[in-house]
Amino acid sequence: MIPRSILLVLVSVLALKTVYSEIYRLPDNIKPIRYHLTFEPQLNLTETSSYVPYYGSVTMELTILKNTRNITFNKKQIEIDESSIKVFNQVGKELKVIATSSNAVEEMYTVQMEDELIKNETYTLEINNFHNNLSHNGAGFFRAYYRLHNEETGEGDSRLVAATQLHPAKARIAFPCFDEPAIKAKFIVSLIRTEGFNSVSNEALESTKDLGDGRFKDTFKETPLMSAYTLAFAVSDYECKSLAKFRILAKSSAIKNNETDFALDTSIKTLKALEEYTGVNFVIDKMDQFAVPDEYFRYHAMENWGLGTYRKINLLRSKIHDSAKDYQITTEIISQMFGHQWFGNLVTPAWWDYMWMSVSFGTYFQYHTADVVQPTWKLKEQFVIDVVQQAFRSEEEDGAHPLNSKIKYLGQYPPSHMMFEKGNAPVNLALKYGAAYPSDLYNAMQEAVDKANVNHLLNNMSVNEIMKTWDSTKGFPIVTVTRDYETGSVTITTAFSIYNHFKGYYRVNYDRENWERIIDFITTDKFKSIHLLNRAQLLEDVFYFAYKNELSWDIPLKLGEYIKQERDYIALAAFHSALKNYLLNDEHLYQYRKAKDTFVFKNYTLINTVDSDATEFDLRKAYVKSVLGNVMAHLGTSSRESDTHLDKLTRSRFIDYFYKYLSR
Ligand SMILES: *[C@@H]1O[C@H](CO)[C@@H](O)[C@H](O)[C@H]1NC(C)=O
Ligand SMILES: *[C@@H]1O[C@H](CO)[C@@H](O)[C@H](O)[C@H]1NC(C)=O
Ligand SMILES: *[C@@H]1O[C@H](CO)[C@@H](O)[C@H](O)[C@H]1NC(C)=O
Ligand SMILES: *[C@@H]1O[C@H](CO)[C@@H](O)[C@H](O)[C@H]1NC(C)=O
Ligand SMILES: *[C@@H]1O[C@H](CO)[C@@H](O)[C@H](O)[C@H]1NC(C)=O
Ligand SMILES: *[C@@H]1O[C@H](CO)[C@@H](O)[C@H](O)[C@H]1NC(C)=O
Ligand SMILES: *[C@@H]1O[C@H](CO)[C@@H](O)[C@H](O)[C@H]1NC(C)=O
Repeated sequence: MIPRSILLVLVSVLALKTVYSEIYRLPDNIKPIRYHLTFEPQLNLTETSSYVPYYGSVTMELTILKNTRNITFNKKQIEIDESSIKVFNQVGKELKVIATSSNAVEEMYTVQMEDELIKNETYTLEINNFHNNLSHNGAGFFRAYYRLHNEETGEGDSRLVAATQLHPAKARIAFPCFDEPAIKAKFIVSLIRTEGFNSVSNEALESTKDLGDGRFKDTFKETPLMSAYTLAFAVSDYECKSLAKFRILAKSSAIKNNETDFALDTSIKTLKALEEYTGVNFVIDKMDQFAVPDEYFRYHAMENWGLGTYRKINLLRSKIHDSAKDYQITTEIISQMFGHQWFGNLVTPAWWDYMWMSVSFGTYFQYHTADVVQPTWKLKEQFVIDVVQQAFRSEEEDGAHPLNSKIKYLGQYPPSHMMFEKGNAPVNLALKYGAAYPSDLYNAMQEAVDKANVNHLLNNMSVNEIMKTWDSTKGFPIVTVTRDYETGSVTITTAFSIYNHFKGYYRVNYDRENWERIIDFITTDKFKSIHLLNRAQLLEDVFYFAYKNELSWDIPLKLGEYIKQERDYIALAAFHSALKNYLLNDEHLYQYRKAKDTFVFKNYTLINTVDSDATEFDLRKAYVKSVLGNVMAHLGTSSRESDTHLDKLTRSRFIDYFYKYLSR
């Protein structure tokens, strides 16, 4: 799932934080094997209806793990018609229910049986009638509206769509179920709709039955074994466009305008890349993607197995209106969603608190797979600057958490990075259809490390040992490199020394002389022999340490001058964020301050080129102008036929600065 508030950074689980600790665990005496579910939303109501009810029934096939008289499952908000509950044993004999009870705090419902249910036997629980209202907050089975332009009247008709969002712990609002990620079962879903509507779910449609009176019952094929939260279904009057096994469902005008084409093409390439990469074929024989009206959906997208739901704005692309960044966002979200079809759906974190594993893999896939699909976009390098550097900055914020405690940051990047770079299987697929704990992930990584024979890179420590510290420690390591120029020796100190093999997840500060040598080198035409990612990291770090008063400002300013000859988006983007986050960060503070009262530019030659009455803001502006002049001359301020994707991204990153600091 990608929460709506933050896209690339996926510092996501904030929203889930309060939820998890409140969740009560189900007793471990019963396991569902299969659900037969039927839903009938009353979509014939109009937008003016204050509520839209839906009716449902469920038959659960259950295996008893420990003898019990209680059948306890999750239920929230739903009304259950108690008299419609029936329980049968495995030879079809109806058993006596003596009481039912509902616990709103624990979000559980218990059916008490007269006789004990016996271990290893299977039973069938029927709830032939439950009902609820479609929610209006995008959780559970929810309603959304969109406007359809009516060519005859010229008006926008309001149309009702019903769709689901069951992660996290929201399946229990949609239907009675065992709503824990590790409790997996198969689902057979039916949706009853009226003429003019159609329905979709995780699996392909198997049959449609005409019920008479204008109602139709669509029944879908049985799903693979899966967690309840990844179930999905929707009823709408959308149209669809398909390509191979992919379909996109959206309002008819979007289909007509070919706004689905980019996502369809990207989907085909992404799934192929993932199948090749994991060596495991996609389990479901179709993949639908459903465009939810933006304002009704709380997430960017949700990776339900076989039926991804997206905010419309993330899925549909218009050649006329959309920017390079928009296309990139769609590409990244699709690859993240598809990545979750393997890690998340096929292999599922065992409990909500471990969802970081799934989020982490999803984030990694977002860039890794998208990089295969769009090899010229430098998405892996963008990953480093967007995600890793952002992770540093969020580490600085109050309340950074270790991974396993309702995580909020991306310390998980290094392990997956390391694993993927080594080209080994990402997930121990022995866990297929199962549920994973962090230790399972680490064991899988350990296998990858052993196979690649790179234990020495981990200082001979086990992945588990390292990750034990990593996922329960907040913060990031700072590496300080001090050179003794007399003896030529180098001292490297780190806050967490064991991490310094993790390329990309530490900051490096040097002594002044070393920085000056770097500046002397990077400002020559040989600058490209410093790896692109290192150039990006130097920029990020040098401005950061000055901002933190750990380095004199003339150092970053001098180093930044090399940008005059830089053309690569990755380095330019790192420079852009260094300007934004560090150099130009406190504009309101220095706006009115006279330059002579500040120290920032004291050691920097540019001070001689502006008049002595200049404010510090004028100085910073002059600096930006002097270093970015070449970049702007190279790119221009408006798009060109010859633009590459990265040219477009660079221009859109800097365009404000071009206007603000460089015009005139
Ligand atoms: C909507 O359709 C349901 C059957 O699906 C019917 O029972 C109900 O009366 C209809 N409501 C309206 C307002 O037409
Ligand atoms: C069965 O459920 C009822 C109602 O929730 C509860 O009072 C009772 O203690 C439960 N029995 C067992 C053995 O868990
Ligand atoms: C239940 O099944 C398991 C595995 O199939 C078996 O080992 C166990 O003996 C069975 N228990 C009972 C009480 O039948
Ligand atoms: C649905 O909404 C109506 C109107 O607010 C309310 O009377 C009814 O109890 C709700 N149904 C459920 C199951 O919450
Ligand atoms: C959509 O694509 C089809 C096939 O490529 C083309 O014939 C049609 O003109 C396009 N429609 C629009 C509105 O661009
Ligand atoms: C790791 O172990 C190998 C073999 O025992 C040894 O040669 C090497 O020096 C060790 N490396 C580290 C960093 O401890
Ligand atoms: C200016 O540079 C010198 C070394 O060249 C350094 O010692 C001093 O701290 C710097 N001053 C400021 C204000 O940054």
